[in-house]
Amino acid sequence: MSLKMCVMLSLVVNKSGEVFSIQTVNLTKRFAKKRHRGVFGFLRRNQLDRDVIEKNGVTVALNKVNIKICPGELFGLLGPNGSGKTTMIKCLSTILIPDEGTVRVNGFDAQKETSMVRASLGMVVGGERTLYWKLTARDNLMYFASLYKMQRAHAKRRVDELLEMFHLSDRADERLEDYSTGMRQKVTIARALLHDPPILLLDEPTLGLDPGFSRQIRRQIRELSEKHGKTVLLTTHYMDEADQLCDRVAFINSGNIVAVDTPNRLKARVKEKEIVEVTVYSPPADIEERIRSLLPDAEVVKLILGDEDKGNPSRIKIIGGAAEEHVGTVIDALRQKNVRIGSLNVGVPTLEDVFIKLTGAKLTEGGMQ
Ligand SMILES: Nc1ncnc2c1ncn2[C@@H]1O[C@H](COP(=O)(O)OP(=O)(O)OP(=O)(O)O)[C@@H](O)[C@H]1O
Ligand SMILES: [Mg+2]
Repeated sequence: MSLKMCVMLSLVVNKSGEVFSIQTVNLTKRFAKKRHRGVFGFLRRNQLDRDVIEKNGVTVALNKVNIKICPGELFGLLGPNGSGKTTMIKCLSTILIPDEGTVRVNGFDAQKETSMVRASLGMVVGGERTLYWKLTARDNLMYFASLYKMQRAHAKRRVDELLEMFHLSDRADERLEDYSTGMRQKVTIARALLHDPPILLLDEPTLGLDPGFSRQIRRQIRELSEKHGKTVLLTTHYMDEADQLCDRVAFINSGNIVAVDTPNRLKARVKEKEIVEVTVYSPPADIEERIRSLLPDAEVVKLILGDEDKGNPSRIKIIGGAAEEHVGTVIDALRQKNVRIGSLNVGVPTLEDVFIKLTGAKLTEGGMQ
């Protein structure tokens, strides 16, 4: 039986039984903390490899991660830099071997049935740099189709279909070096779809794109899930992206899953009457501490640094306690320090509020850090 037939058959089995598109049980991945070995370090490589863990310790990139994703679900893995998102994608796609735990993709064991897992997946990781810039979009896609051993006539049809789907048909015969970053990202996603896999893994698909292209890519991802029935796991550190796009979201922090639920149910964990957000300009470094000392009933007081040169002021978030009573105290404290206030909002919790409440993670404007 061909690989493709096996993949399709397994999907049918998945839908009838209690089998998930993606399932991890106690997935754990550790990395030895490395130090630069110097120019001639390779000469001492073996000795260093033996000693490196003892000397420098390990980073636990994923710590006993348990996740179940249903067929057709659009699932978001949301976490700050270094929280383990890319490591998760790499373990699911068999690029990395876990230290502990099991990974099943489309019903197949990622360690024992590697080729079946790979045939079940389309993956976007690392962005546009994985394409050939000297080739046109069409030639790139035809080349990768040949690696999947697709017959030429079939490949041509599929490439035309994908170029159409991503609104690239009229620019298909231009070299990628003349494309914008957003257009190249579309080609990267199209490439992941060449063999029509049931599951898509997208690592930060809108990273570095302008709002217009981000919107187009998000719309396309939604369509892949709703119209084409794909199971999508996407990672992001943009709270709004996860909120707007995903059926369910998992928060990941330092390799630990801290919550999994629908965006609305996650937001319901923070009560509206408990949120104050003040935008401020050039806040002094000690303002967070000062406000915290004045509001003992607040669960979290967080200064989220912005970038005023780019029109993003900093924000102070206060979560927990009686928000309306906090407003006067906060304004007085800011005035005393001559801090200019941009705006003040009470209520309307966001995923960011939930994440801060659960983890106290460091945040910056536009996402997590
Ligand atoms: N090959 C590696 N060798 C050593 N440490 C690694 C390796 N890959 C990842 N790590 C470490 O594992 C942790 C998780 O990294 P990972 O790239 O999965 O995070 P991430 O959530 O994708 O971050 P980002 O948002 O910056 O892409 C980090 O501390 C990182 O330094
Ligand atoms: Mg990453």
